[in-house]
Amino acid sequence: MHYTELGLSNTHKMLRDALRHGYAVPGYNFNNLEQLQAIISACAETKSPVILQVSAGARKYMGATLLTALARGATDYARELGMTAPIALHLDHGATFEVCRDCIDMGFSSVMIDASDKPFDENVTLSRRVAEYAHKYDVSVEAELGALYGIEDDKISTETHYTNPTDVVRFVRETGVDSLAVSIGTSHGAYKLKNPADTLRFDILEQIAAALSDFPLVLHGASSVPQNLIDEINKYGGKISGAHGIPESQLVRARKMNICKINVDSDARLAFTAGVRKILTEQSDVFDPRTYLSAARDLMKELYKDKNINVMGSNKI
Ligand code: G3H
Ligand code: 13P
Ligand code: ZN
Repeated sequence: MHYTELGLSNTHKMLRDALRHGYAVPGYNFNNLEQLQAIISACAETKSPVILQVSAGARKYMGATLLTALARGATDYARELGMTAPIALHLDHGATFEVCRDCIDMGFSSVMIDASDKPFDENVTLSRRVAEYAHKYDVSVEAELGALYGIEDDKISTETHYTNPTDVVRFVRETGVDSLAVSIGTSHGAYKLKNPADTLRFDILEQIAAALSDFPLVLHGASSVPQNLIDEINKYGGKISGAHGIPESQLVRARKMNICKINVDSDARLAFTAGVRKILTEQSDVFDPRTYLSAARDLMKELYKDKNINVMGSNKI
């Protein structure tokens, strides 16, 4: 199935528009119906474009058949809410050519091939192979150069490998990819920046943006880990300590340096958990999942709206 049959857009124009106007398009990971509802209703209200993204793990969790139906439902639901901004369906951290090809064949409008753990030449070869296949179907491709500290799907990187600014032009030219994820000190999960006083490596980002002027850059691991959500989780029986994320001011600064796609997953996980914990603790007789899942959905929706306005700057209201 081609993505246009699902009412989706590729990310080419989305990211170019964002780059030109200095905002970012969010890459919001989702895993279930309530999260999808929260993302779409938030983006409809802020009139923001959105990249719905799924990891290989999330795709397996939802199942390919239901995922296709959810994607079609998401675009129909968005139009019902009056949303006119484009919506993409993106594979996050695709590890192989085969998984990227499967996603393209089932209706994804964008894929990430993440060969950032491989030597430069292997990364180029694999990323180019995916780009050649994807472009036959007008599907966009994101690749990564440099590797983030932390967990992404089953891969664990125990240290940060910053993107080398001297490699980026050759990488983009030789692969033909449409956007590039860079490693400048963010990491996946809720335990970022070993020293919370550290800042992202804006010096590296500046060199990358100068070398690749006018080219869409992507920031992974960009959750802010809001303290109010951690407090709420812990208040209602959770035990999360030492978690911290990337301050919003740094994300906004990065956005002004050609980062035009910002990925967020962990913050929504925290909002979801806070919502469920609160209801189940305060109303111990509740056993209808709709009651606690709608509380989680409401908190996620507020989070996404806040991100669209205060981090992405993508709101048209
Ligand atoms: O980059 C990683 C994302 O947060 C996806 O995580 O593989 O647990 O779905 P996941
Ligand atoms: P966070 O863990 O910071 O939300 O990052 C998500 C991400 O980069 C998905 O690709
Ligand atoms: Zn990521």
